[in-house]
Amino acid sequence: MIGWKAGDLLDLRDLTKEDIELILETAKSFKEVSTRDIKKVPALRGKTVVMLFSEPSTRTRISFELAAKRLSADTLNVTVSASSLLKGESMLDMAKNIEAMNVDMIVVRHKSAGVPQILAEALGPGIINAGDGCRAHPTQALLDMFTIKEKLGKIEGLNIAIVGDILHSRVARSNIHGLIKMGANVTLCGPTTLIPPDIEQEGVKVTYKLEDVLKISDVLMFLRLQKERQEEKYLSSIREYTKLFGLNKEKLKMAKKNVIIMHPGPVNRGIELSADVADGPQSVILDQVTNGVAVRMAILYLLLGKKELVSDDLKGQGDS
Ligand code: NCD
Repeated sequence: MIGWKAGDLLDLRDLTKEDIELILETAKSFKEVSTRDIKKVPALRGKTVVMLFSEPSTRTRISFELAAKRLSADTLNVTVSASSLLKGESMLDMAKNIEAMNVDMIVVRHKSAGVPQILAEALGPGIINAGDGCRAHPTQALLDMFTIKEKLGKIEGLNIAIVGDILHSRVARSNIHGLIKMGANVTLCGPTTLIPPDIEQEGVKVTYKLEDVLKISDVLMFLRLQKERQEEKYLSSIREYTKLFGLNKEKLKMAKKNVIIMHPGPVNRGIELSADVADGPQSVILDQVTNGVAVRMAILYLLLGKKELVSDDLKGQGDS
């Protein structure tokens, strides 16, 4: 068996609304740990978490590593170059070697969709998907949902727009699955070539005009234009893209007064967002980064066998 109930986090499609609520609630308690002078609780002492990344990543890897360390787990980073690992099979060999060293959890990022599933089927330790190809990035969507709830008090009933390169975005896919489950009204916005046909079947609306979502949205989530995933043939030019789908101060005037602006990072400044908007008062981009640690702490904690938060697990090493 694989999936959330079996100790893996592969795709938000496996999770119920209650599972998501439990993660967000648990993360709330763990957020406080990172504000302490000594940012560490003994909850996962003796557990080993391995980060197996074969695609460039800075914030996601650091975030997982900090999360594991703040729970007192031992961590190990395995960065495999994309050229030495082009196929799921060779990643499997590598992971089998890691498994043989008795680790408890493997956090995987891979450029091919489905690799985390293959590993989860073949291996004993839990697998967390830290992004596979264009398919899923469940921890990013969970930290996005945490941030929305923290800033706006709820998710249900909100108008949430996801803007940009939906076609290549695992962040968009996971957010669609999560946000719809939590009762949000999700609208996708982008160039016709970068929105998958039939995506409405997932329960979202689609528009090709930024103005349509600017006026009604409580949350504007911008995606990075995935230059490495060959967008050239999808767009006439990046300048045109920015003109139509980028957000700047002028266009922001059309939006609701307390709209929040999100982006999973890294931001292509001047393409998806102008610098003053990315750094402006409505931007919650750095809150997303902060919350990522707490949400990943909650996920590691819940997956490594703790079904609910025990208050003792929030006590620091030296607390009585
Ligand atoms: C995202 C990713 O890698 O999927 N970034 C991230 O996890 N912080 C989004 C992106 O690369 O555009």
